[in-house]
Amino acid sequence: MTNHIVLLFFLMSLVLVSPSLVCDAAESDIETNKLYIVYMGSLPNEESYSPTSHHLSLLQQVIDDSDIENRLVRSYKRSFNGFAAILNNQQRENLANMTGVISVFPSSDYRLQTTRSWDFLGLPKSIKRGQTVESDLVIGVIDSGIWPESESFNDQGLGPIPKKWRGVCLGGGNFSCNNKIIGARFYDVRELSARDSAGHGTHTSSIAGGREVKGVSFFGLAEGTARGAVPSSRIAVYKVCILGGICSGDLILAAFDDAIADGVDVITVSLGVPYAAEFFNDPVAIGAFHAMEKGILTLQAAGNFGPEPSSVISVAPWLFSVAATTIDRKFITKLILGNGKTLIGKSINTIPSNGTKFPIAVRNALKCPNGGNASPEKCDCFDENMVKGKLVLCGSPMGELFSPANGTIGSIVNVSHSIFDISVISDKPSINLEQNDFVQVQSYTNSTKYPTAEISKSKIFHDNNAPIVDMQSSRGPNPRILEILKPDISAPGLDILAAYSPIAPIDDVDKRKTKYTILSGTSMACPYVAGVVAYVKSFHKDWSPAAIKSAIMTTAKPVKGSYDDLAGEFAYGSGNINPQQALHPGLVYDITKQDYVQMLCNYGYDANKIKQISGENLSCHEASRRALVKDINYPAMVIPVEPYHKSFHAKIHRTVTNVGFPNSTYKAILINHNLKIKITVKPKLLSFTSLNEKQSFIVTIVGGEKLNQTVFSSSLVWSDGTHNVKSFIIVQILSL
Ligand SMILES: *[C@@H]1O[C@H](CO)[C@@H](O)[C@H](O)[C@H]1NC(C)=O
Ligand SMILES: *[C@@H]1O[C@H](CO)[C@@H](O)[C@H](O)[C@H]1NC(C)=O
Ligand SMILES: *[C@@H]1O[C@H](CO)[C@@H](O)[C@H](O)[C@H]1NC(C)=O
Ligand SMILES: *[C@@H]1O[C@H](CO)[C@@H](O)[C@H](O)[C@H]1NC(C)=O
Ligand SMILES: *[C@@H]1O[C@H](CO)[C@@H](O)[C@H](O)[C@H]1NC(C)=O
Ligand SMILES: *[C@@H]1O[C@H](CO)[C@@H](O)[C@H](O)[C@H]1NC(C)=O
Ligand SMILES: *[C@@H]1O[C@H](CO)[C@@H](O)[C@H](O)[C@H]1NC(C)=O
Ligand SMILES: *[C@@H]1O[C@H](CO)[C@@H](O)[C@H](O)[C@H]1NC(C)=O
Ligand SMILES: *[C@@H]1O[C@H](CO)[C@@H](O)[C@H](O)[C@H]1NC(C)=O
Repeated sequence: MTNHIVLLFFLMSLVLVSPSLVCDAAESDIETNKLYIVYMGSLPNEESYSPTSHHLSLLQQVIDDSDIENRLVRSYKRSFNGFAAILNNQQRENLANMTGVISVFPSSDYRLQTTRSWDFLGLPKSIKRGQTVESDLVIGVIDSGIWPESESFNDQGLGPIPKKWRGVCLGGGNFSCNNKIIGARFYDVRELSARDSAGHGTHTSSIAGGREVKGVSFFGLAEGTARGAVPSSRIAVYKVCILGGICSGDLILAAFDDAIADGVDVITVSLGVPYAAEFFNDPVAIGAFHAMEKGILTLQAAGNFGPEPSSVISVAPWLFSVAATTIDRKFITKLILGNGKTLIGKSINTIPSNGTKFPIAVRNALKCPNGGNASPEKCDCFDENMVKGKLVLCGSPMGELFSPANGTIGSIVNVSHSIFDISVISDKPSINLEQNDFVQVQSYTNSTKYPTAEISKSKIFHDNNAPIVDMQSSRGPNPRILEILKPDISAPGLDILAAYSPIAPIDDVDKRKTKYTILSGTSMACPYVAGVVAYVKSFHKDWSPAAIKSAIMTTAKPVKGSYDDLAGEFAYGSGNINPQQALHPGLVYDITKQDYVQMLCNYGYDANKIKQISGENLSCHEASRRALVKDINYPAMVIPVEPYHKSFHAKIHRTVTNVGFPNSTYKAILINHNLKIKITVKPKLLSFTSLNEKQSFIVTIVGGEKLNQTVFSSSLVWSDGTHNVKSFIIVQILSL
């Protein structure tokens, strides 16, 4: 284990000391100008400090031309310090070495984390709500904007804007706010309005805080009531993404700068890059750190890069990172072949069948218009004359969107197991089949000269297997700090019906317009949890972001698994959110800003830079430097172990705060399925006599034998008979 930490430390130091190493490979041309973010930590306290003139003077020292002002793209100056500027490689390197600069990194393009009901979660309509308090909660949504006229954002019955609100309505164009959408800002000058042209931001906003709207459906499918997690909360919109789903990193940081200063209560970000960036090279982690200082918890989608291990893109311990699970409502579609055989597949097909069977165009009827060969597995290159009036039989191995254009009637698509979960929406009858069923269609088409088939309108099916983790939801272990469990939590993210922008097409292929649509991905799961955070906060105004996160994690419900069962907690985190239980966790694992700072020290950050990030005289405690990253008071424990064939011994320190009954005694219950690993907890009983009292304990984990699997999962439950405070203990055997 020691070796492992050294290795992490080493990689870290390289990144910190010489940021140029990160991108050298890509940048041979020294004169290439690029947009960089220069992060400078907290704003100094001095009243006379002027961020913009400081930023200009730093630039002056590295740029020798006169148009410095044009190189400074924007200054961050409301909630933290830094700026975005156009620099070449040499200037970037010089800046990175200057006093006051913490990191300089390219402004990457973030992407929306969507792939293509609350009753299920235990937050029914009749639930107890802190109405008055709840309606003073503001959910900050950093996304593609919002469609303000959507019925989901009507403000009927909502009181005036909360007094604490310091934000503005600068939606641009004809955008107007109301008592539901109380703040709006846009950042990308290519679309001069906070109005949503992509649809994604409208969808995520309505999942978190949409009003109750009856009789909503998707072209007659999935009819019901649309309702966000906290229908009486307020929404503040920060539009950073434009049509096409591109969201520039420097704009995301600008949105955090404003949202924190505006006074939101929770921030939700369903965006990501396809890798886990180093904390202070990541606009979301930087923004969330400063949000945390102000008592604001930030939610981020875990990413849709699963099922590969370590594909989680949201890794900082102060972020709440959300995986996506299925819900019990599933769409199924029937394929009826000419020989009467019926196969069940997936799609969201809104077109009713009238019983007519259409001819099937088989693979060998497909050829590229330019004479080349169509790739055997893919739905491409259709010869119009051969597919007109027919159902096309083809494959979509990577889930490429396929347009049954050129006069086709529809499509029967062979998809890989990993993308079968995703319901593809199409404006022509279409069905996705798994390989076994697809082969049956092929053997039928081989057996007859004129194969025909009919695709039915999709139906809703109650899925008893839910919730399971979506195949594409990003997996842990945490690629940056193994000791921090990621993702943290899971929530419904598949086939979610919510509000949409009526000017956005359903997707690249289906150009229909709709006010409500079905989307999937960790993008959808993230605002669900943001809503639950707001819900918990409405009852517990004084809880820190870490306390709220702990309450939600330790009360989570089990997830039935995932397609790759071995991933376990690394797929679903602590489990599926359980909003009502999260109000009464009994005990919480709290984490202060000083704790995060100490963790960064232990992780290897330069002490001077840490001081600057925290903006306080918080120094690294040399004395407790032995206290390793694993000792941060996280509500889950992950112990990385070297794969040597010898014993290991780990001690983990934790402290819980009583938020249950003043007088209570909690007993440690260990749920350990692994006889090869011995876990003990000291003390076994924790007695409290008042609220907010803290008690510490030590978990000792000993393994004495050769271990032949990679992950050992156990859990510790503190129980007082009423509350069961559950934390996973995961021993992760490192691979060489
Ligand atoms: C930046 O500082 C590092 C070490 O602190 C040094 O190796 C490097 O040469 C410096 N780069 C520039 C451009 O000054
Ligand atoms: C506002 O402008 C958008 C786009 O320009 C348009 O689609 C919409 O109908 C307008 N809304 C109102 C309420 O005028
Ligand atoms: C069913 O629909 C097809 C195409 O839309 C049409 O050609 C056919 O006549 C219809 N059949 C019946 C029985 O209505
Ligand atoms: C449709 O036909 C046109 C012209 O033949 C061709 O260029 C195009 O690639 C075809 N589209 C598909 C999806 O095959
Ligand atoms: C169906 O798709 C899978 C996954 O892409 C592929 O491995 C398989 O060969 C395909 N089967 C047929 C019959 O095309
Ligand atoms: C159908 O026929 C094609 C072409 O002859 C052949 O490659 C394929 O294996 C056959 N599939 C089945 C399921 O019979
Ligand atoms: C910061 O803390 C150090 C030791 O912890 C102390 O020596 C120093 O005076 C403090 N500085 C300020 C500005 O408070
Ligand atoms: C807790 O227990 C102590 C001693 O057993 C008792 O004096 C006190 O009144 C109790 N407090 C509450 C809130 O029940
Ligand atoms: C590990 O070894 C035990 C016996 O010592 C065996 O029962 C178990 O199946 C093995 N697990 C794996 C993953 O090989």
